[in-house]
Amino acid sequence: MKDLTPNKATLDPIEIASRDEIQALQLDRLKWSLNHAYNNVPMYKKRFDDAGVHPDDLKSLSDLSKFPFTYKADLRDNYPFGLFAVPREQIVRVHASSGTTGKPTVVGYTATDLSNWADLGARSLRAAGVKPGNIVHNAYGYGLFTGGLGAHLGIERLGATVIPVSGGQTQRQVTLINDFKPNAIMVTPSYMLNILDEFHKQGFDPRDCSLDVGIFGAEPWTNAMRENVEKAFDMHAVDIYGLSEIMGPGVANECVETKDGLHIWEDHFYPEVINPETGELVADGETGELVFTTLTKEGLPMIRYRTRDLTRLLPGTARSMRRMEKITGRSDDMMILRGVNVFPTQIEEQLMATGGLAPHFQIELFRSGHMDSMRVHVEATPSAANEASKSAAARMLAKRIKDVVGVSAEINVRDPGGIPRSEGKAVRLIDNRPKE
Ligand code: DLL
Repeated sequence: MKDLTPNKATLDPIEIASRDEIQALQLDRLKWSLNHAYNNVPMYKKRFDDAGVHPDDLKSLSDLSKFPFTYKADLRDNYPFGLFAVPREQIVRVHASSGTTGKPTVVGYTATDLSNWADLGARSLRAAGVKPGNIVHNAYGYGLFTGGLGAHLGIERLGATVIPVSGGQTQRQVTLINDFKPNAIMVTPSYMLNILDEFHKQGFDPRDCSLDVGIFGAEPWTNAMRENVEKAFDMHAVDIYGLSEIMGPGVANECVETKDGLHIWEDHFYPEVINPETGELVADGETGELVFTTLTKEGLPMIRYRTRDLTRLLPGTARSMRRMEKITGRSDDMMILRGVNVFPTQIEEQLMATGGLAPHFQIELFRSGHMDSMRVHVEATPSAANEASKSAAARMLAKRIKDVVGVSAEINVRDPGGIPRSEGKAVRLIDNRPKE
């Protein structure tokens, strides 16, 4: 793999500023953001008044914990534009996420918001080792989803050449990679696996392709998956995080030179981690639910937004800004089986460590008797698709899950191609339990 470490001189000075400087900037911006939300969004005014707090009560960063949380339901309750803090005419872009139930959540950006997003996208790409003049294949979906158009902004702002492919048409993805010779690809990790299969199907060795780095996000993926993809393509794999409510892709990004978790772009987003049950802050280094407050967003300021993503905050390394560990999962995706908390990422880790299995999987929850049970559907690799190898792999995976994760799982090993493929975010959980 190529050394892609960026030249320090190309970084934004604030990325490597002192903690004091970063915190001073955060405090100024936080005061602005609380006032902006309070003065322009009726929901925030009411929330703050009901909680007996006023933006002027914020004297230090730690005072933020006195302010009330904001939830996904608040976006739904104010559908579509009720949380915008500027007149609708100043909103130049809208995105929406479909969610699984009810109305989508709608987010809006002013021209300044889009410009900040472009800057942070460019910063994220630079962290991943992409340079101006490189070619970037963008296979995140274009449309209401923030992935495609969000990444697009950042690629252009960096001064790289964007190939706006979007998701889908997997054969064509491979053709374009072979013909245009991009240096980098931006795509969900599960769709990258799909593209990998297509390389093999077309008879190309993915290690011969031009890609030096993949920038993967929009869904959880493990370090075990990183190793797998890095080896398969002979390229770096780094993590990009974001969510529509806070901005989109580029809220945090891993640095290619360290790959030790994602640096949060703290000059625009103030992170906290809380105990999801009590709402109390936990110390840096402890796992909990990630909460974000936007520091510069004009169109849709978010104050203490509960992401439901579980991670922990760690000190800066390659940059001064704090890191978040790779996301373990969303609290919504946590399964509780006989008292044990289980995330799909834990199953992914064990699957990747078991020989004869391809990295495609789905987890089915079902009821047996009065108990919730788990069945893991996986795929054999082409060379291990015979009955003897399949049952050996099933036994091995069941044992690993039992020993390491601590739950019993039925394993169903299918033939190659037996698990539905994703073109964006993978569907990992199938809930077949009877509805209460
Ligand atoms: O998925 C934005 C994005 C696009 C990020 C492309 C990275 C790349 P939403 O559709 O609003 O936005 O979904 C946000 O996806 O709360 C996490 O649960 C999950 N997620 C996003 N990035 C990661 C990641 C985009 N790197 C939700 N690791 C978030 C784990 C991620 N989960």
